[in-house]
Amino acid sequence: MEGVPHKSEERWLPYAAAGNGLRNYWYPVMWSRSLRHKPVGVQLCGEAIMLVRDRGRAFALQDECPHRGIPLSAGRQEFVGSWSCRYHGWTFDLDTGILKAALTDGPTSPICGKVRVKTYPVEERAGLVWIYIGEEPPPPVEADIPSEFLRSDTLAIGRISVQRGNWRYACENGFDDGHSMFLHRYGVLFSAFRRMPAWRRTKVVNDGDGWISRDNLERVFHSDYPELGSWPRKSFWKRGGRRNRVSIRLPGVIRNRYEDQDAVNFVWWTPIDQSHYRMFQIYVISAKGLRRLLFCLRYWLYLKPIHHIQFNNQDAWMVRLMPDTPPNRYYRPDASIIAWRKLCESARGQRCSAHPDAHNQHAVASQRSGPPVN
Ligand code: FES
Ligand code: FE
Repeated sequence: MEGVPHKSEERWLPYAAAGNGLRNYWYPVMWSRSLRHKPVGVQLCGEAIMLVRDRGRAFALQDECPHRGIPLSAGRQEFVGSWSCRYHGWTFDLDTGILKAALTDGPTSPICGKVRVKTYPVEERAGLVWIYIGEEPPPPVEADIPSEFLRSDTLAIGRISVQRGNWRYACENGFDDGHSMFLHRYGVLFSAFRRMPAWRRTKVVNDGDGWISRDNLERVFHSDYPELGSWPRKSFWKRGGRRNRVSIRLPGVIRNRYEDQDAVNFVWWTPIDQSHYRMFQIYVISAKGLRRLLFCLRYWLYLKPIHHIQFNNQDAWMVRLMPDTPPNRYYRPDASIIAWRKLCESARGQRCSAHPDAHNQHAVASQRSGPPVN
């Protein structure tokens, strides 16, 4: 079809294999303020991870005791700098994951030092906890955090929720050009008083720093459709026709800039497993003092309920409704989805197909939940 590159399945293989997420990236997993001394179990890219704070620092361990498989997040702390499994008291160093003691086998237990649990690099920036998952040495966490988050006066405020569906479909929906003009036209306050184009022509451009963006070439607010008539109906209470610029970058984060506001909206779809993702919807603004406070109020009273909940729930609804293997009959606006998939071909770690399970994942992805390939 015109405007949509036609790719062989082989070409999309790394993306098709990434049902559990792209590896060798830093992902946000939770708010820093929510991580205290009590352990938190999270799943990231199909791996169970335990997070805990010790002496002010965040640590992440594989959430499975190598003895009998009990989640370490059910455990407790007996000594500073270590973590003990709740079942038989195997005690692991938080930094290295090495077994320091098997408490119920006495101080001379010969298994000490011979067993370890996997540890994950963890960092905290912009009020969030970030975990690196992958086989290659991690780049600095800043490589995977948009620069807007890293200014000294940044306010990052938003919402984290767990959603059903594959993370790839959530990303594709985020950069999908066509849906907002129909899906979000009805049933949400966010667009109740704004004019929306009936259709538009866009082109995907490289915006630097890893971002690709949709550039609006043409916007049309009313059209005559052959044999049907004019659409949409004119509504005298709708005004404007706000412009925004939507961008996406690896491993799956959207940046949405609106022409009439300083705050920038970001969304991450952090993969949990093949059929769940954690959605981070975060507004970022550079502001101090009263301006900061006023934006918090604006967020809590308006942007959160109207945009992050009501509006984005429509997106999550569509991702939830999408079958494991959707049909692939593209139309012109899908060029944006194709551009995103193409960007995924340059994801880190593609040389080694990322994960030891990559072949299995591909098999599963092809059978059950692979992205639309063409
Ligand atoms: Fe963890 Fe036995 S299962 S110590
Ligand atoms: Fe949407």
